[in-house]
Amino acid sequence: MFPSTRLLASIFLVITFYIPTFNAQLTSTFYSTTCPNVSSIVSNAVRQALQSDPRIGASLIRLHFHDCFVNGCDASILLDVGGNITQSEKNAAPNNNSVRGFDVVDNIKTALENSCPGVVSCADLLALAAEASVSLSGGPSWRVLLGRRDGLTANQAGANTSIPSPFGSLANVTNSFTNVGLNTNDVVALSGAHTFGRAQCQFFSQRLFNFSGTGRPDPTLNTTYLATLQRNCPQNGNGSTLNNLDPSTPNIFDNNYFKNLQTNQGLLQTDQELFSTSGASTVSIVNNFARNQTAFFQAFAQSMINMGNISPLTGSQGQIRSNCRKVNGS
Ligand code: HEM
Ligand SMILES: *[C@@H]1O[C@H](CO)[C@@H](O)[C@H](O)[C@H]1NC(C)=O
Ligand SMILES: *[C@@H]1O[C@H](CO)[C@@H](O)[C@H](O)[C@H]1NC(C)=O
Ligand SMILES: *[C@@H]1O[C@H](CO)[C@@H](O)[C@H](O)[C@H]1NC(C)=O
Ligand SMILES: *[C@@H]1O[C@H](CO)[C@@H](O)[C@H](O)[C@H]1NC(C)=O
Ligand SMILES: *[C@@H]1O[C@H](CO)[C@@H](O)[C@H](O)[C@H]1NC(C)=O
Ligand SMILES: *[C@@H]1O[C@H](CO)[C@@H](O)[C@H](O)[C@H]1NC(C)=O
Ligand SMILES: *[C@@H]1O[C@H](CO)[C@@H](O)[C@H](O)[C@H]1NC(C)=O
Ligand SMILES: *[C@@H]1O[C@H](CO)[C@@H](O)[C@H](O)[C@H]1NC(C)=O
Ligand SMILES: *[C@@H]1O[C@H](CO)[C@@H](O)[C@H](O)[C@H]1NC(C)=O
Repeated sequence: MFPSTRLLASIFLVITFYIPTFNAQLTSTFYSTTCPNVSSIVSNAVRQALQSDPRIGASLIRLHFHDCFVNGCDASILLDVGGNITQSEKNAAPNNNSVRGFDVVDNIKTALENSCPGVVSCADLLALAAEASVSLSGGPSWRVLLGRRDGLTANQAGANTSIPSPFGSLANVTNSFTNVGLNTNDVVALSGAHTFGRAQCQFFSQRLFNFSGTGRPDPTLNTTYLATLQRNCPQNGNGSTLNNLDPSTPNIFDNNYFKNLQTNQGLLQTDQELFSTSGASTVSIVNNFARNQTAFFQAFAQSMINMGNISPLTGSQGQIRSNCRKVNGS
């Protein structure tokens, strides 16, 4: 009698507690029966977008980053104002007039819906598009973990405060990463995404003429590079003017970002501080990635998986949006 009661009790425990735990794990095979070609559908759409816009890969990986740092990787950044969404994340301070690629996300979603209607979440779309963007630009490939579901809310206040600022110190940046469960290795590896893409003058011009009220430029800036940047971003010029984040190979995913830091050519203050902060644990990681691209690629892939694991919705949480810009039925 007693043993079988215990057996029933343990079966009950397994059913009530084991299954939710199981669902909380993302897996690389999540769509293997429901949408076996999901990776190539996304990859083909990204390849096509890259043909007309060599910057789009950089823009797509940044969407995944800004999604994951706010309410986890739930595609909340993709929601437009409308229905119950009164304040979108895309209009938050770090995103407004800065993040881009929403039209390409819509095209990828259309391709997915054509092959596998109602199956693939927008949050997984962003994770797959990030991997495709990196590997198609010369960077590493990795098996993307899948099974995220899409959120029902946007958190503009969270986006304003959780996404790291380019004006912060190394401590500020590390703190933003620690708040979402990432560590210093992740900070350095993921900052390596600044090996491609662009940044507007307004995000680094404080370094060029009167840094921290000193009346001088940031002393850590390479003087040759400084002159180039001053020419492209004059005082009282247009703050929206674009600059390559990696002046040496602007559209290629390689380890030149770290070599640039060693020659004092980090574009954002937060980039340069990884190398120029004396005594910081980030310095030796930068040196390792600069000398060994394989080490960078391995670390980058692992840190992308870590970032993609931030608080996903799984199982029956959230929904599979049919339009990435809207909660279903709104
Ligand atoms: C470490 C803290 C970080 C800060 C402070 C930061 C800040 C910025 C800023 C200010 C820009 C320029 C935006 C603009 O001009 O509109 C930018 C661009 C970019 N960021 Fe970051 N970022 C950080 C980390 C990351 C991470 C973790 C990733 C991805 C893994 C990433 C990927 C990118 C890419 C690819 C671009 C270029 C986007 C484009 O050309 O559209 N960044 N970042
Ligand atoms: C998956 O892709 C392969 C090659 O890319 C293609 O031959 C096959 O028809 C596709 N399968 C489905 C179900 O779309
Ligand atoms: C976003 O930028 C636009 C200008 O393009 C501006 O009109 C709007 O007020 C900004 N939104 C927020 C929430 O700051
Ligand atoms: C986010 O920041 C922008 C710009 O500073 C501000 O206009 C907006 O009200 C903030 N949103 C929230 C919800 O705090
Ligand atoms: C950096 O952190 C300090 C101390 O917490 C804070 O006062 C400051 O506003 C932060 N700066 C940025 C740009 O995030
Ligand atoms: C630099 O900025 C500080 C305060 O931000 C100001 O007092 C000073 O006059 C500026 N110097 C120059 C040369 O513009
Ligand atoms: C600044 O440049 C952007 C695009 O580069 C342009 O749309 C905008 O009109 C310019 N603003 C001014 C004040 O010239
Ligand atoms: C400045 O950058 C140039 C490449 O543009 C490099 O050759 C030089 O060594 C750098 N100088 C310093 C001090 O890092
Ligand atoms: C480069 O890094 C990889 C991965 O960590 C390692 O296996 C390899 O031995 C390193 N190569 C050199 C030359 O240090
Ligand atoms: C909007 O919010 C209301 C109240 O919480 C809820 O009943 C409704 O289902 C929501 N609409 C959508 C489309 O999620």
